[in-house]
Amino acid sequence: MTQSAYRAKLLTFTGDPAQSPDAAVFHEDGVVIVEDGRVTASGDWSALRASVADGATVHDLRDKLIVPGFIDTHIHYPQTDMIASPAPGLLPWLETYTFPTERGFADEGVAGDTARFFVDELLACGTTTALVYCTVHKQSADALFTASAAKNMRMIAGKVLMDRHCPEFLRDTPQSGYDDSAELISRWHSNGRQMYALTPRFAPTSTEAQLEACEALAKAHGDIFIQSHVAENLDEVKWVKELFPRQRSYLDVYDRYGLLRRRAVYGHCIWLDDEDRQRMAQTGTVAAHCPTSNLFLGSGLFDFDKAQASQMPVTLATDVGGGTSFSMLQTMNEAHKVARMGGHHLTATRMFWLATAGAAAALDLADKIGTLAPQSEADFVVLDPKATPLLARRTARAESLEELLFALALLGDDRAVFETYAAGARVHSRDEAKR
Ligand code: GUN
Ligand code: ZN
Repeated sequence: MTQSAYRAKLLTFTGDPAQSPDAAVFHEDGVVIVEDGRVTASGDWSALRASVADGATVHDLRDKLIVPGFIDTHIHYPQTDMIASPAPGLLPWLETYTFPTERGFADEGVAGDTARFFVDELLACGTTTALVYCTVHKQSADALFTASAAKNMRMIAGKVLMDRHCPEFLRDTPQSGYDDSAELISRWHSNGRQMYALTPRFAPTSTEAQLEACEALAKAHGDIFIQSHVAENLDEVKWVKELFPRQRSYLDVYDRYGLLRRRAVYGHCIWLDDEDRQRMAQTGTVAAHCPTSNLFLGSGLFDFDKAQASQMPVTLATDVGGGTSFSMLQTMNEAHKVARMGGHHLTATRMFWLATAGAAAALDLADKIGTLAPQSEADFVVLDPKATPLLARRTARAESLEELLFALALLGDDRAVFETYAAGARVHSRDEAKR
């Protein structure tokens, strides 16, 4: 049982900083003590130095800031190599780039190679947990889980279900999609730190029979995740209205098949109405706000005021390859600007909460990840406020925690991630990766 101690500035959370100003807990000279992959204590160095065991390694990171590992609640690993592909909006982008790229994942070699690169890229950005879309091929999910298990990351992923309105080469059937998903659930859900997400791509690419199969799987496995897209783009919303004329709204299609519940996470949620938002709040269904993607594809602006008024759970996500960065810091940068466009001031402190403890709570994983509390799995990021000459000049003038975090969010990216730890093991070192 070896103990390690990390002495640094610390930021962790006991709740939503928008609800209570004391919810962000900051230690100027703090320490995180880790044993067997879990945090055993965290707090002021002066109070805890006596708890550091004789013989423990003490890492001196006093010029750095430790925060809980970032949680990206919506990302497509097969789209890694097609990030930054231009198209006039979502539907042409899917047809022109996405579907042809995803075809390649029938090949285990392509899937394995991309999954390993993807996981390393997440870690280089300080992301220790993600909700990941694979492709329709079940081997694409095996490849992702294998790569994430090799780093002992807490990862949530699923095989895409898609039985219509996509090329023949990417189609499953209600039965094959059900069987493959059931097999993957039994192989990967709660296998070490891996967890399964049932993944109907979005309502237009699933028949009613496939959505019924999803309903059955969701009922049979109450603790798996569900992920899909909703109300991202106006052309898509119109299309769903034509395909499901009996449903009140796009979100209502998922409701009809029992797919709104705790641990269900929907990407985008731009074109929802108040009744939809209320339904999300009532059912504990989570919105994954993807600002870099929504700006890139011109999908629309997420409404923070309405989301907050409805009390629906909100999280932040990259949505790579629609999203233009793997970095949750860059995602915060764009989230702040999108909120500003709606007249809402989203503080950096709250964005750090949304990307850590807030996401963990929304995903029903608060007892495992998202904070530096004792017993938490030791997933954390060591941020470097002096990562670039500009960051160094700006953070030297920061007069509050909010100003420090704001500079990191607006100016930071993978360069600001000094090290990343998953379950207490160092899984990324910026300076070693550079060599
Ligand atoms: N809607 C359906 N599939 C996708 C996808 O791959 N990316 C995005 N952004 N939206 C989608
Ligand atoms: Zn997406």
